[in-house]
Amino acid sequence: MQNFVFHQPTKILFGRETISSIGSESIVFGTRALLVYGSGSIRENGIYDRVMASLTEAGLEVIEYPGVRSNPVLSHVREGIRVAKEHRIEVVIAVGGGSVIDSAKAIAAGALVNHDVWLFFKGKKSVAGKLPLTCVLTLAAAGSEMNGGMVLTNDDLRQKFGTGNQHLKPQVSILDPEATFSVPLDYSVYGAVDAIAHILEFYFTTGDPTTPVQDRLMEGLVLNIMEACERILVDPKDYNARADLMWCATLALNGLTGAGLGPVGFPMHMIEHSLSALFDVPHGAGLSVVIPAWMTWRNEQNPLKFAQFARRVFGVLESDDRLAANQGIHSLKSWFKKVKSPVFLEDLDIAPSAIDDLAANAMDLARLWRLREYDQGIISRILQGCRRSGLR
Ligand code: NZQ
Ligand code: ZN
Repeated sequence: MQNFVFHQPTKILFGRETISSIGSESIVFGTRALLVYGSGSIRENGIYDRVMASLTEAGLEVIEYPGVRSNPVLSHVREGIRVAKEHRIEVVIAVGGGSVIDSAKAIAAGALVNHDVWLFFKGKKSVAGKLPLTCVLTLAAAGSEMNGGMVLTNDDLRQKFGTGNQHLKPQVSILDPEATFSVPLDYSVYGAVDAIAHILEFYFTTGDPTTPVQDRLMEGLVLNIMEACERILVDPKDYNARADLMWCATLALNGLTGAGLGPVGFPMHMIEHSLSALFDVPHGAGLSVVIPAWMTWRNEQNPLKFAQFARRVFGVLESDDRLAANQGIHSLKSWFKKVKSPVFLEDLDIAPSAIDDLAANAMDLARLWRLREYDQGIISRILQGCRRSGLR
């Protein structure tokens, strides 16, 4: 167990009817609010009306800032910062999934500085504070509702970068599983895949060989995510399944699973962000293609942890570690196929001829995230393993 600091200041309100508290939870930070949301799902599913009723009743003056795209872009955030400064916003309220919450974080942080917000993502400036941020989560996936991360695509440079900082954690996040009833099944699955990826990034990249507490916590989360996802595919309005997936996705990336692991990396995300940046694929869909290929490549160096994962998550009985590990990777890939998440580049309509461009694009993030063992050749090799024809 390595030394760690676990500082989780985000207040979570979880469960039915919690959305009605967004007004009383936000007014404590001020009356001038910027309401950030996406392309309209909250208007269709009624969440917008419930949020606005609560904000109005609490006495907030609301400036609406809709239009956040999935895989959110810098140009929209820059305009949001301008609006926040013009209206002397006191609290930012995000209602949506990870794209909306990440955009709101960038706006809340950018509103307090005079330099371009992209410098935070380039690592040239660090976040020293942000406007208070309250959230209503509507999609279980990214974990942004309870972490200090934010991810943005620079639409001019076609770079998708993520950055993290303690100041970016929301003050309050409201998690009502019923808010996710309307999430389409494909995005429900992509959210489950994203949450599994967050766990596997920690699980397989820690340098500490003895982390039994975190390992079993993470293995349990993966099992629950897979089980809840399958129940949602049977009944999208299964409250308990939606609640299980929502809370697992939040726990998967709120610092708990990584506490005590020492330094870890996010190589699968480093590669996937290029798929999203260059081809605008849904984040989770890109990950279900990258994960098995990256695991196959990494397993060659460290079969023991992959064998443990195979035995504890998929019940693999094979005694040979390398064979067991391969069976575990195959089982995970089969599960992705079972829940209809893509597993090949071709499933994403990405031609193998794009691999060199993808690898070159990913290198920018590999350098920024100091993933020093990855060069363009290695990333290309991993991406080759994402091809239908590249199947080993
Ligand atoms: O545009 P809206 O109306 O919001 O529609 C969204 C969007 O089209 C829709 N949706 C969301 N909630 C819904 C709903 N549709 C019906 N009913 C609902 N209740 O679903 C689509 C996808 O939404 P999005 O927010 O893009 O999905 P997700 O939550 O998976 O967020 C993905 C973003 O999170 C980033 C990813 O890179 C990606 O940009 N991540 C953020 C992280 C963080 N902050 O820590 C870590 C993650 O690894 C991830 O990188
Ligand atoms: Zn992710």
